[in-house]
Amino acid sequence: MNILGIESSCDETAAAVVENGRILKSNIVASSLEEHKLYGGVVPEIASRRHAECISAVVAEALEKAGCSLDDIDAIAVTYAPGLIGALLVGVNFAKGLAVAANKPLVPVHHLRSHIASNYLTSDVEPPFLCLIVSGGHSHIVAVNSYTDYKVIGKTRDDAAGEALDKAGRTLDLPYPGGISIDKISGQGNADAFKFPHPRVEGAPYDFSFSGLKTAVINTVHNTQQKGEKIPVADLAASFQKNVVACLTEKLEAVALDFGFNKIVLAGGVSANSLLRAECEKMCKAHGWALQLPELKYCGDNGAMVASQGYYEFLAGVCAASNLNAYATMPIDEAIV
Ligand code: KG4
Ligand code: ZN
Repeated sequence: MNILGIESSCDETAAAVVENGRILKSNIVASSLEEHKLYGGVVPEIASRRHAECISAVVAEALEKAGCSLDDIDAIAVTYAPGLIGALLVGVNFAKGLAVAANKPLVPVHHLRSHIASNYLTSDVEPPFLCLIVSGGHSHIVAVNSYTDYKVIGKTRDDAAGEALDKAGRTLDLPYPGGISIDKISGQGNADAFKFPHPRVEGAPYDFSFSGLKTAVINTVHNTQQKGEKIPVADLAASFQKNVVACLTEKLEAVALDFGFNKIVLAGGVSANSLLRAECEKMCKAHGWALQLPELKYCGDNGAMVASQGYYEFLAGVCAASNLNAYATMPIDEAIV
């Protein structure tokens, strides 16, 4: 079964064709990142405009690269939540039009579910497993009971891990997105040079909190500037990254031990982080747990992961009517159709 996946939840306009949820036939990504760099973050209006401009060509190219016409497509999967509402609406409306015109089933896909599915394209991993989803907008520890059944065990109370890294990157005057810049420059710094707080959420042992860390890095930079000293960017980046990764792995380990998981999976943009990957490898090796990391090309937003998850949603009977809407927020364990 061939699924066409369409993604437009943030700044990537993406489309892909995937066979039976696992076999990649094409994967086209057009990003408006360079334009957002000018503003130090994603500007929703610009993202929506770029999606509208290039979605048609991106989908056409995905079909062409896969050697397919719409006749060869069995269903059209589209990200409908969560994300930037104007951006999501471009993908949803395009997919709806295509589904009606070509008389194909329309499958709505939750963005975080699709991030998890990036692992189905990388390996033959199957649920159940424990997944750490870390992106620009979310930090979740989720029990993935089946391809369409999830239970959130822990999540961030404020900023997402990617958001904290991006904000720290901006404070350190590093290019956007800060997460990638911090990962790159950390190799040149001393990760033990600065101590940052290790926040705990009262009464919620598996939840994260990253907003205090951001304030800590801002204060450190201001103090250094006030003393007229040079800002040790690489040391600050490395120390900050080490702390964020420690917060993530500490909670992940606690959940795996307390709930008896021995299969760990990572997903989301921040799962590309080299320290996070290395620390998870260390942790899983020490406990004898299996670890699945998404291939780097599937860590960021893409259409292939949407097509993969769309396949499993379709098998589970999920199908939307032509009045499908987009939603800026939606829990991963909820579905509207
Ligand atoms: O999943 P994603 O592409 O978009 C969302 O759904 O949010 O994640 C984007 C986030 C950004 O915060 C970016 O800084 C972060 O992923 N990111 C990284 C790395 N690559 C991307 N963070 C740390 N290290 C990386 N190598
Ligand atoms: Zn994402």
